Amino acid sequence: RQHIGKIKTGCIEFNEMMGGGIESQSITEIYGEFGSGKTQVAHQLAVNVQLSAEQGGLDGSVIIIDTENTFRPDRIQQMVEGKANELGIELDYEEFLKNIHVARAFNSNHQILLVDSAMDLANELKDSDKPVRLLIVDSLTAHFRAEYIGRGTLADRQQKLNKHLHGLQRFANLNNAAVLVTNQVMSKPDAFFGDPTKPIGGHILGHTATFRLYIRKSKGDKRIVKLVDSPNLPEGEAVLSVTRDGIVD
Ligand code: GTP
Ligand code: MG
Repeated sequence: RQHIGKIKTGCIEFNEMMGGGIESQSITEIYGEFGSGKTQVAHQLAVNVQLSAEQGGLDGSVIIIDTENTFRPDRIQQMVEGKANELGIELDYEEFLKNIHVARAFNSNHQILLVDSAMDLANELKDSDKPVRLLIVDSLTAHFRAEYIGRGTLADRQQKLNKHLHGLQRFANLNNAAVLVTNQVMSKPDAFFGDPTKPIGGHILGHTATFRLYIRKSKGDKRIVKLVDSPNLPEGEAVLSVTRDGIVD
C-alpha cells in the first residue's frame, strides 16, 4: 500500500478539518446548492495538485470529467497567479493548463466510459514527471438526475451510479490519486424531482464516498464547508473565501 497523499485546499481551516488536505486513495464528495462553490474548489485543487509537496501539492497532473461545461481556463490562470503571489515565486499558468486533462461527458454512459479513458491516460503518465494524482468529476450526478426521472427508474439510477463509484474508487487506489466528485442539492423540496434537498446517490453514495463535504454560502465571498462523513476524522466546519486568487482563508 502506497503512502496516502494530501492536496492542500488553499484554506488553513479547511485543511485542518481534513487532516491536512484532500486525500489520495479516497473519494471526496462535495455537495451543495447552485453557486455554493463546488466548481471553484475543484478548479483550485486542479491547480494545487500540481505544486510540490512543500507547496501543498502532489507534483501531479489532473483529469477533469466535465459534465456541465463549466471548466474555465481563465479561472485557472487567475488561481495560478494568486498562488504565485502567495508563494512569492513565478508560475507559468500555461504549464498548469497543460497538466489539466479535460474530457466532456455528454451523458451518463459516456461519463462512466470516460473513467476507463482516464485509467489509460493515467497509465501513460505513470512514469512521467507529472503522474495523475487527481480525478475530478464535476458534476457526478447531473446527467443521472436528468436521465432518470420518476420512481420506476430510481433503482436503475442507483445501480449505475454505484458501478460508476466503484470505477472511481478503483482509479483512486490504482493510481494513488484523489478523486473529487461534486453533487448539486437544492434548498427546497421540488415535487417534480422527488427530494432534491438530499444529495442523489443518498445511501449508496454515503457508503462509497470516503469523505463527504457540505458547502454553503455565507456572507459576501465566504463559504462554510462542513465535514459530514469521514472514516477517521471528527465532524467539523471551516470558513473559506472565494476570491479572485481562488480558495483562501
Ligand atoms: P453549480 O455547479 O451550479 O451547482 O454551482 P457550484 O457549487 O459549482 O458553484 P461555483 O463553484 O461555480 O461557484 C460560483 C460562485 O463562485 C460565484 O457565485 C462566485 O461567488 C464565485 N466565483 C466564481 N468565479 C469567480 C471568480 O472568477 N472570481 C471570484 N472572486 N469569485 C468567483
Ligand atoms: Mg459547478
